[in-house]
Amino acid sequence: MQNTPVPGVSKRGQAAPSSPIRRLEPFALEAKKKGVKVYPLHIGQPDVETPPPFFDAVEGFRRGESARKTLAYGPSAGNPELIAGIAAYYAAKGIPVKPSDVIITLGGSEAVSFAIMASCDPGDELLIPEPLFPGYTNLAAVLNVRVVPITTSVRNGYHLPSRDEIESKITPRTRAILLSHPGNPTGVVYTPEEVSLVAGLALRHGLFILADEVYREFVYDETARYVSFASLDGAADRVIIADSISKRFSACGARVGCIVSRNPDVMRTVLKFCQSRGCPPVLEQIGARTLYEMNADEYLKGVNREYAARRDTLFNILNSIEGVVCRKPEGAFYIMAKLPVDDAEKFVVWLLGTFSQDGETVMGAPGEGFYATPGAGKDEMRLAYVLKEEDLVRAGSLLKAGLAAYPGRLALPSPA
Ligand SMILES: Cc1ncc(COP(=O)(O)O)c(C=O)c1O
Repeated sequence: MQNTPVPGVSKRGQAAPSSPIRRLEPFALEAKKKGVKVYPLHIGQPDVETPPPFFDAVEGFRRGESARKTLAYGPSAGNPELIAGIAAYYAAKGIPVKPSDVIITLGGSEAVSFAIMASCDPGDELLIPEPLFPGYTNLAAVLNVRVVPITTSVRNGYHLPSRDEIESKITPRTRAILLSHPGNPTGVVYTPEEVSLVAGLALRHGLFILADEVYREFVYDETARYVSFASLDGAADRVIIADSISKRFSACGARVGCIVSRNPDVMRTVLKFCQSRGCPPVLEQIGARTLYEMNADEYLKGVNREYAARRDTLFNILNSIEGVVCRKPEGAFYIMAKLPVDDAEKFVVWLLGTFSQDGETVMGAPGEGFYATPGAGKDEMRLAYVLKEEDLVRAGSLLKAGLAAYPGRLALPSPA
C-alpha cells in the first residue's frame, strides 16, 4: 500500500510501511461497534494463559524485603537474575551461552532492531527469505537498510533455494541474513542442512546471521529436527539471536525479550543502543524471571500439543476449501494461504465491513505486506492459529462462507 507524502516528515518515516497485521484493525473495531463478533486470526496473540507465577512475582514487588515504594530504573542490559535464567535455559539445551552473552530487550522486536543496527549501516543490504515477518521490512526502512528478498515457495514448504541462488543475491553491500526460524508467516523449520548452508555462506562472505528464534519452542513434526543457529560453534561470532517470552510463555504484553550473541564486540555495541533507551520494563522482568525458574518443559509440552492440534484443525479446514493453496506448517503458529480472490486486502475489508453470518465474521492479515518483492502475495492471507479449537473451527467456516459469497472471488480453472 502506497504511503501518502507528508510535508516535513522524514523520508525514512514516510517510506516505512504500516503493519499489514494491525493496519486493518479499525475496520474490525467498526464491525464490533455494529455488534459483529470478529474472530481474530490476523495477529499472533495467543489465547493461552500466561503462567500464574509471572503475575504473582509482579504483585509481590511491593511486598519484597525492602518494601519498595519507588519503581526505579534498572540496569540497561537488564535484570541480572533474568539474564542468568536465560543463560541457563540455553546451557540446558547444550548451547554454551554465558550471562555476558545475553542482553534483555523490549520484546523480540527490539532484539531484531538492535541486531540489524549492530550489523548494518545505512545503505547496506540485508538478505531475508520471503514471505517474511512485516516487522522486518518496517525496521529496515526506518534504519535505511535495503531488504533483498530470497523468495521461497509454498511448493517446497518455503525451504531455502540452492546455495547458488542465495549467493547470486550477495553483493559488496550485503552485511547479514535475517531468518525467522521457525518461520512467521510460513511455519518453515529449517533443516540441519539448511542451517549449515547459511553458516557456510556467512563464513565465506563475512555475513552476520540474524536468527529470530522467538518461536523456537513451537516445532510440531517429529521429523523436523530443530537446530538453533545459536548452536553453530564454528560460526558463533557471526550469530546474533533474537528471542522473547511473548510467544513462548504467552506474555506478549510484557515486552520482554533478549538478544544473544557470543560475539563480545556485538554485545558491547548493543549495550550502547540499550543505554539510549534506559532499561527494559522492571516489573515485567521480575515476572519473566519466574518463567525461567519454573519447570517450563511440562508447560511447553502441553502448549505444543495444543498448537499442533490447532494447526491440524485450521490446515484441514483450509485444505477443504476449493481454490485455497497452503502447506502444513512445521512450526510457529501461522499458515500462509493463497486464496481464490482478486486482492486479499479488499477481501479482509469486505469480510469486516460487509460480510457476516449469524452476527460473526473473521479477520486475517493480507499477504502483500509479507513480501519485499513488489506486487507479490496480493492473493495471499496469513492466518494465526492462536484460538482454541472450537473458535478456530467457527473462524474457518466463516472464511469458507466468506470466500463463497465474496464478489471478487476468482473463477477456478475448470478441471481438464
Ligand atoms: C518472527 C517474529 N519476530 C519477532 C516478533 C516480535 O515479538 P515480541 O512481541 O517479543 O516483540 C514477532 C511477533 O509476532 C514475530 O512473529
